[in-house]
Amino acid sequence: MLEFGGSPVCIETITRPVAEKPDQVHLGDIAPDYRKWVACREPLYGDPHAECCSDLHYYEIFSLLVKIPWLRHNFLARRWLDRLFLDAPDFVVRVLTHRRHWPPYSQRSFVGGARAFDQVGAWFLGELQGLGLFSQGIQVLDIGCGCGRLAYTLATDAALRELQIVYTGMDVDRASIHWCERSISPQNPRFTFYHADCYNASYNPRGTIAAANYRFPHANASFQLILLTSICTHVLEQDLRHYIDEVARLLAPGGVAYATFFFYDTSETVTSGSARHGIAFPFVRGHSAVNRQDFPTNAVAYDEAFVRELVRQAGLQVIEPTRYGVQDVLLLTRTN
Ligand SMILES: C[S@@+](CC[C@H](N)C(=O)[O-])C[C@H]1O[C@@H](n2cnc3c(N)ncnc32)[C@H](O)[C@@H]1O
Repeated sequence: MLEFGGSPVCIETITRPVAEKPDQVHLGDIAPDYRKWVACREPLYGDPHAECCSDLHYYEIFSLLVKIPWLRHNFLARRWLDRLFLDAPDFVVRVLTHRRHWPPYSQRSFVGGARAFDQVGAWFLGELQGLGLFSQGIQVLDIGCGCGRLAYTLATDAALRELQIVYTGMDVDRASIHWCERSISPQNPRFTFYHADCYNASYNPRGTIAAANYRFPHANASFQLILLTSICTHVLEQDLRHYIDEVARLLAPGGVAYATFFFYDTSETVTSGSARHGIAFPFVRGHSAVNRQDFPTNAVAYDEAFVRELVRQAGLQVIEPTRYGVQDVLLLTRTN
């Protein structure tokens, strides 16, 4: 049971039995509490109820706009309307409620979290700390960092500052990267951000580089921790395949990648709606299924077996067992 703002939320996390194989990797020394983490029943991230738990109830008026179906799915049109009509009142509300440090409404709504910026960041921090993934001077790459929901919490947390984590955030959304550079880097100079002009039909429709051809500007084995939170849920097959290859290239031996997905087992269950994801994927395309045919990158689910095969081909290993929830989490590692 999870309580935020007085509203209890109970979300079932499913731990499927995983057949033990001799070559399976367990987190072992990396995170002694791993099994406790897998059994955890408190997945806030991606939880549609989490937004309702915020005390910021007046945002319900704001989100009425999002109820118009076409707008709901056309991210860029929504962003312009948010900028025109909602950023100014949101600013006033933020000042009055001591949330001035948050990015503007138009950026928060872009990452699907207009009301729970701090809560989601804190949840992630607990998640990564619970897994024991932070160590002194660790190099972190956050692919699709958005407007810094995670970075802000990591950059400003007193205990983590002691660890002198070096964090690099990358995103295809220029406005979010600018905000992070202006607002997070000055607070913690070890946190840097860069924009990659990769095409994403929802998030960067004017992007000039195919994500499937994008080479991340870092040397091999540069990072001990790579985060892909709610980005594999917005990229299509070719891009996903390439990003997994890049993760394999960039991850240092013994490093861990934390990636979230909407997984399905059979196309029947995904098309009829997956209870745990709170979202239906009626359109099957190859090894994936999308929520909207007109805006496929709005939400993409993957056949779990297909992703596991991509991971294997890239030379990565899945740390077992996997945790299934509102978004399913794959922890990947490089053993050589
Ligand atoms: C749902 S948001 C999640 C943002 C952030 N990870 C968080 O949890 O707050 C998805 C993010 O992925 C970014 N994105 C979409 N396609 C991308 C790509 N090909 N490469 C990197 N980022 C991408 C979007 O711009 C957006 O910021």
